[in-house]
Amino acid sequence: MPKRRDLLTIVLIVVPWTLLITFWHQSVIPPLLAVQNDGKAEVIRDHDRRLRPQGSCTIENRHIVKVVQTGYTYSRPPPWSEVLPVIYVVTPTYSRPVQKAELTRLANTLLHVPNLHWILVEDSQRRTPLVTKLLRDTGLNFTHLSVETPQNLKRHGETGDSRIPRGTVQRNLALSWLRETFSVNTSQQAVVYFADDDNTYSLELFEEMRSTHKVSVWPVAFVGGLRYESPKVNTLGKVYGWKTVFDPRRPFAIDMAGFAVNLRLILHKPEACFKLHGVKGGYQESSLLRELVTLNDLEPKADNCTKVLVWHTRTEKPVLVNEGKKGFTDANVEI
Ligand SMILES: *[C@@H]1O[C@H](CO)[C@@H](O)[C@H](O)[C@H]1NC(C)=O
Ligand SMILES: *[C@@H]1O[C@H](CO)[C@@H](O)[C@H](O)[C@H]1NC(C)=O
Ligand SMILES: *[C@@H]1O[C@H](CO)[C@@H](O)[C@H](O)[C@H]1NC(C)=O
Repeated sequence: MPKRRDLLTIVLIVVPWTLLITFWHQSVIPPLLAVQNDGKAEVIRDHDRRLRPQGSCTIENRHIVKVVQTGYTYSRPPPWSEVLPVIYVVTPTYSRPVQKAELTRLANTLLHVPNLHWILVEDSQRRTPLVTKLLRDTGLNFTHLSVETPQNLKRHGETGDSRIPRGTVQRNLALSWLRETFSVNTSQQAVVYFADDDNTYSLELFEEMRSTHKVSVWPVAFVGGLRYESPKVNTLGKVYGWKTVFDPRRPFAIDMAGFAVNLRLILHKPEACFKLHGVKGGYQESSLLRELVTLNDLEPKADNCTKVLVWHTRTEKPVLVNEGKKGFTDANVEI
């Protein structure tokens, strides 16, 4: 006859362990690297009542959607393709406390994009060990350049001259590198994109820009004190103006993150660059684009500029409103 104390021991030790192990088995996380290759994602709505805690903590079934991806074997970066156009991403960067964090975040995005070559240009006299190591460790294809912004062009403090935007000299060096690397009659299919290190980029954006013939354009969120700025696209699918409140008369009232250029266009217009002198704030993008295209040449992407695929992360103003502003009819664009 077992004593009462033994029975109590069994109840207090064996039962909790049995329960724990049962739960454990049911909640094993599916492996991150799915290897099956049937190209499907399975959506499972979880109806298992045993997983439901009782009482006030009950989770409603309809709120649980479990997705098991089985169609993609992850590798970093994706294999190089001989047929896909290359995307040259130009990123000016400068030393500051958050630099490594920003570059790591951007590198993590770029690692998902096939046929990508990262041109990182430091605002410094020479290439720094921090960036050198970071680039090497990413495993990306890259070119590492550096040029220091001349003292007379630098901003002085917070209130200083904002006519010379940061990164201008660096972006121009990247353009020179491209012109030196490729001959005008190159057969290389490629697109050039200026991606600052403090924005957030959707992976979809890179596939949108990859087919750029001349210059492609799309909306950018959280710029100019707005939820988003965007090219205006008419019913024929042509760009005819700009949804922006900050100086809409600019020839190309578009943010640096809002356009990509075909490499051959850059090679065929060797004079086109970002102007250093006599350029008002907000006219930097125009100073390059007006040398390359006219409004009529622009190719709207992101579903005729109705989708936001890139976001400024540093918003200069806390209030972001489009509603009630002239030219904004679709304030419900998802951001
Ligand atoms: C880098 O580019 C070359 C072709 O220029 C390619 O063969 C190689 O696989 C690429 N490497 C990566 C990591 O993408
Ligand atoms: C490109 O043009 C140059 C002359 O400008 C010529 O020497 C070269 O062979 C051409 N290259 C190709 C790939 O056609
Ligand atoms: C953009 O608009 C044009 C003209 O209305 C239309 O032909 C085209 O299919 C649209 N493109 C997309 C991706 O919605």
